[in-house]
Amino acid sequence: MNNFKNELFYKYAIVVFLIIAFFEGILMFGMKKSFDMHLKDKLALIASEIDPQNFNQNQLLKIQHKYRVFPLFVQIIKNNISNLQPGYSTNIINGPLTKEKILTYTIIKKPYAIKISTLYSTNDDKIEIIKIISLIASFIIYLISLFIGWKFIETLSKEIELTFKRLKNFNSNVSHELKTPLAIIKSKIDVALMNKEKNCDKLLYEILEEIEYINEITEKLLFLTKNYNNKNFEKIDLEELIFELYEKYEGKIEFKFHFGEDDYEILGDKILLKIAISNIIENSIKYGASQIEFTLQKLKNKIILSIKDNGVGIPKEKLPFIFDEFYRADESHNKNIKGFGLGLSIVKNILNLHKAKIKIQSKGGVEFIIEFPSS
Ligand SMILES: Nc1ncnc2c1ncn2[C@@H]1O[C@H](COP(=O)(O)OP(=O)(O)O)[C@@H](O)[C@H]1O
Ligand SMILES: [Mg+2]
Repeated sequence: MNNFKNELFYKYAIVVFLIIAFFEGILMFGMKKSFDMHLKDKLALIASEIDPQNFNQNQLLKIQHKYRVFPLFVQIIKNNISNLQPGYSTNIINGPLTKEKILTYTIIKKPYAIKISTLYSTNDDKIEIIKIISLIASFIIYLISLFIGWKFIETLSKEIELTFKRLKNFNSNVSHELKTPLAIIKSKIDVALMNKEKNCDKLLYEILEEIEYINEITEKLLFLTKNYNNKNFEKIDLEELIFELYEKYEGKIEFKFHFGEDDYEILGDKILLKIAISNIIENSIKYGASQIEFTLQKLKNKIILSIKDNGVGIPKEKLPFIFDEFYRADESHNKNIKGFGLGLSIVKNILNLHKAKIKIQSKGGVEFIIEFPSS
């Protein structure tokens, strides 16, 4: 898992670096270009403001101050102006220490021509500062992205690890549940084969019973792994649905109802919801309850169904695992009570499909509180 985490992080770090470097490159290029454009615009504006007939040192200083272009060379040309090309040009001059790039703008204002020049290098200083600031900002963004990425990968890998653990647990539970009946079947067949001449009816019945047990487990597992959808969703009156279940289980447990005057309508799959609530009722019957109470409450945008029994209850420390596959809270009394620990996982799956939340609490008996979004 650690290797996976590190590898994922390295790849993430490289990808983020490339993305930031790409955008930084575009930014630098764009900045340089826009700065050049800016400088060119300034030279053109200066040229338009200069009056070649009255140009003097004072005017030069004023203009330089106004446009902040340093240094600024202005040349007023009177002779041979027809040889001059109007527009921008750049020249490189080799100075004693450095090469200097000169930008010149030439404009013809007959009978004069004006040449305005400036050095790129001095004007470039500003852009250098902006470049450094932008590089530092990019570096900080990179560090923050790495930190957030690492945190994200850490939570992701924890989640994956947990899923793996649950899967492993699930596999071992399935094998364990199937191993016992299979071993019983094998030993019964061995006995039957050894006593060929005797009547094996009793043994065959016992084998059939074990096969039925396996069948039930596999059916429940298939039910759990099936992908249900909301195709069969319809408007369901919860009050009506509970009365239908009352008719089914009447006589096995005493029912109590606390319903108000509201409509308790939700959108759902009636067959699946009946399976879920039946599972809860059957548990109450199995785990020693003589009475089960149904309470319906309508709030602003949800309907709350509480199902409470007066059975043996579940110890508090076992409640967090109660919806896990194959989990049975009390191994000792469970030995005498049939079950695979899949019922409540099925309940949870069905309620998830309905975007309903389920909570369980146990004070004396057990109480399930189910919150449905109202239709
Ligand atoms: N109403 C209840 N009263 C007491 N214990 C319960 C009740 N419902 C569920 N349980 C406990 O929760 C466990 C899981 O329930 P479930 O998933 O339906 O499995 P199963 O009924 O097959 O054992 C049960 O084994 C039981 O220990
Ligand atoms: Mg059950």
